[in-house]
Amino acid sequence: MEILMRETPQEVAQQAADIIGGYVREGSTLGLATGATPLGTYRELIRRHREEELSFAQTQMFLLDEYIGLPYDHPQSYHATIRREFTSHIDVHDEHVHAPAGMAEDVIRATADYERDIEAAGGIDLQILGVGTNGHIGFNEPGSSLNSLTRIKTLHPQTVADNARFFESQEHVPAQVITQGLGTIQRARHLLLLATGKHKAEAVKRLVEGPLAASCPASILQWHRHATVLVDAEAATLLHDAAYYRYVEAHKPSWQRY
Ligand code: F6R
Repeated sequence: MEILMRETPQEVAQQAADIIGGYVREGSTLGLATGATPLGTYRELIRRHREEELSFAQTQMFLLDEYIGLPYDHPQSYHATIRREFTSHIDVHDEHVHAPAGMAEDVIRATADYERDIEAAGGIDLQILGVGTNGHIGFNEPGSSLNSLTRIKTLHPQTVADNARFFESQEHVPAQVITQGLGTIQRARHLLLLATGKHKAEAVKRLVEGPLAASCPASILQWHRHATVLVDAEAATLLHDAAYYRYVEAHKPSWQRY
């Protein structure tokens, strides 16, 4: 696991866009997170696309998760959110932007179909992740099986409270979601977790330096062969070994890719 620390959220977005851009140039398949954290990164990627530095025409994209029961055109569905915030501003083909079918009549079947779609695309090369204040990734809440596949989950009350800011009120946040499982996420070839702000410091400490445990689903990054944790100064405040992580990056061989 590589820990990269940057001073500000803007520097995190720049570094993340550098890493993602390398994959986009190779026509790789990306896994996308929604939520507030990657928005700066998406804006930076849009800017690079407009400057003609990056084309997404060969890229497939798979969302991590989706609310159950929100119509696709609901502004808070992840299907609509990712188009509004990111993909409608770049040259990715719309049919290459995949999301779990939260409105399917047979939601259970839709979860299996999603696994199959990811596999049929050759798997995910780079999975972008955010982390919940309770340590969730995707919507794998604490207690999620470490080897789970795409499935239905009930949101933790803390996640409902955290996400209420995007809805009229807490009561409007759907209780259930479809999410890629922790096993699904671990199949991605490279995991890139972004975290910014003081409110993420505890989760970052637990995922990087705590035990590998279902009580902190993001700790599965410790088990992955190629995981990068990219944080700003505020999110890094509780890291015990911060000086060592800086030393490692300062001594990174020039041939080693981020
Ligand atoms: C969203 C997702 C979630 C978020 C997490 C952090 O697709 O998978 O795990 O990444 O809840 O959300 P923000 O970035 O809004 O703090």
